[in-house]
Amino acid sequence: CGIVGYTGPRQAYPVILKGLKRLEYRGYDSAGVALLNDGQLNVYKKKGKVAELEEFCTGQDLNSHIGIGHTRWATHGEPSDRNAHPHRSQGGHLAMIHNGIIENYAQIKKELLGKGYHFTSDTDTEVLLNFIEDIKTNNNCTLEEALRIALKRIVGAYCILLVSDDDPETIIAARKGSPLVIGIGKGEHFLASDASPIIEYTKEVVYVNDYEIAIVRPDELILKNIGNEKQTPFITKLDLELAAIEKGGYEHFMLKEIHEQPDTIFDCLRGRLLPQSGQIIMSGVDNHIDALKNAQRIIIVACGTSWHAGLVAEYQIEELCRIPVEVEYASEFRYRNPVINEGDVIIAISQSGETADTLVALESAKEKGAFIFGVVNAVGSSIARLSNAGAYTHAGPEIGVASTKAFTGQLAVLTMMALKIGYAKGTISEARYMQLMHELQAVPEKVKEILADTSVIQNIAAKYKDAHDFLFLGRGYNFPVALEGALKLKEISYIHAEGYPAAEMKHGPIALVDDQLPVVFVATKDSYYEKIVSNVQEIKARKGKVIAVATAADDVIPGMADDVMFVPDADEVIAPLLSTIPLQLLSYYVGLAKGLDVDKPRNLAKSVTVE
Ligand code: G6P
Repeated sequence: CGIVGYTGPRQAYPVILKGLKRLEYRGYDSAGVALLNDGQLNVYKKKGKVAELEEFCTGQDLNSHIGIGHTRWATHGEPSDRNAHPHRSQGGHLAMIHNGIIENYAQIKKELLGKGYHFTSDTDTEVLLNFIEDIKTNNNCTLEEALRIALKRIVGAYCILLVSDDDPETIIAARKGSPLVIGIGKGEHFLASDASPIIEYTKEVVYVNDYEIAIVRPDELILKNIGNEKQTPFITKLDLELAAIEKGGYEHFMLKEIHEQPDTIFDCLRGRLLPQSGQIIMSGVDNHIDALKNAQRIIIVACGTSWHAGLVAEYQIEELCRIPVEVEYASEFRYRNPVINEGDVIIAISQSGETADTLVALESAKEKGAFIFGVVNAVGSSIARLSNAGAYTHAGPEIGVASTKAFTGQLAVLTMMALKIGYAKGTISEARYMQLMHELQAVPEKVKEILADTSVIQNIAAKYKDAHDFLFLGRGYNFPVALEGALKLKEISYIHAEGYPAAEMKHGPIALVDDQLPVVFVATKDSYYEKIVSNVQEIKARKGKVIAVATAADDVIPGMADDVMFVPDADEVIAPLLSTIPLQLLSYYVGLAKGLDVDKPRNLAKSVTVE
């Protein structure tokens, strides 16, 4: 979910509404605002996207200089008007928004029901709010004190903003597990899940830490820990420009972000990859090179697309560094009592740096003494701060819900890491090290070549847009690319798609093949090439439709496939950075051809801050 708050001399509603639109990537199944004016608390909320809330609010009393707003990704209770935030306490004096999940809400709800409370929604948020109200009434204490007592009792993750009709200027905020940034203006404060709603007003921000409570007034920001001790707010200067979070002439963020990749990959390599001097400079790796090169095992922890980047890194690190690698879904790793030994290194990969599954997995691994290296895109995010060391991907803000440029940024960072560690360890020859450095340096230009003409991909998308299923196959370095291609198509077009190792296909999915099934082969020229040619034949023999991603000069695969998307030649270690691009475009254009909202696919959220 995304949250925004404002207190100061401006009209609060326009600031909040604009902010919610920027945060919509975090969830968009319902939205709402609470506006406080002269002791009167108005709450407006609506199922659907922020635009629907905006329409609903037209003509309402919106006059207010303090308010809170929310755009939701449902956890407890279906998306509906009544489950939308803000919620109001039973007494009607408090309004609250919440990003996160209260795990022990059922017990607390039972207690409150016993006291005569009734609930107007199915949410855990309303339970927490009434719990706070109940504590305040019974203890006759301040709202801040009641909140503190409540937070000690609850289990789960939260970022909450709270307003009360008897305190006309104050927003009380608290965070554990879900992000919160406070923008410091002149006589005004802004609160949000990330900096994007804030940057046009101020560049000075405070990232609130877990277990901190903020009391925010136009002229004052008080930060306390849960033990009621004052904390000194640490003010950071934002390094983010407004243009980076706007569409810049593209129809969708996803398309803009796909086309940004020559630049974002270049930015990621800039100053780090120096083939002329034979160096790769990454301070996070340099400072911990012994821990990394002597690792007995590397465990990569991630979710979604980031997990696929981890799979590519598995192939790279095992080949170039000769260190065993395991790639784990964060949510599974966390809860199965994993074995973590001394000398193990964990690499955490995350675009947002806020994914709850990844974050809690890392927290528990860190408690067990693991060394954590973060590969993160969002600067200053929770995972970046929790890591012992790290390397940012520098892809800039990614707004389209389906990850594109962040994925290639992750691949670029992980490739440099594998090269650097392998070279330091002596498991890769000087010649190969130099060759791969040059290959990597050539990637931005090659990506540009792929993007120069997308008409073939658009035609393929139009041809297959009505298929019900897709199979994506690849081997070796291109196997994770196939998985990512399938995930992208599912996310954007709602077409069922499965990614599989091309050889494993004959042990099951081949049963699905008929003359209706499009099968995408990621079949660039690499050491598996001969084998994948055979796999293509196996599909053709069963009348499947083959769409191939092939190397530019290849003349075998194009002769067999029904449709081909070409990519420039590259070493197989680097190939995923290129072969993934046509698949991003394919899903984009299929989604577009189906008339879907590619930037905000149904049910998804970009940053999932609940476990
Ligand atoms: C969500 C997004 C995916 C993303 C995954 C992991 O599910 O929709 O696109 O890959 O989270 O996110 P992270 O920010 O940790 O990379």
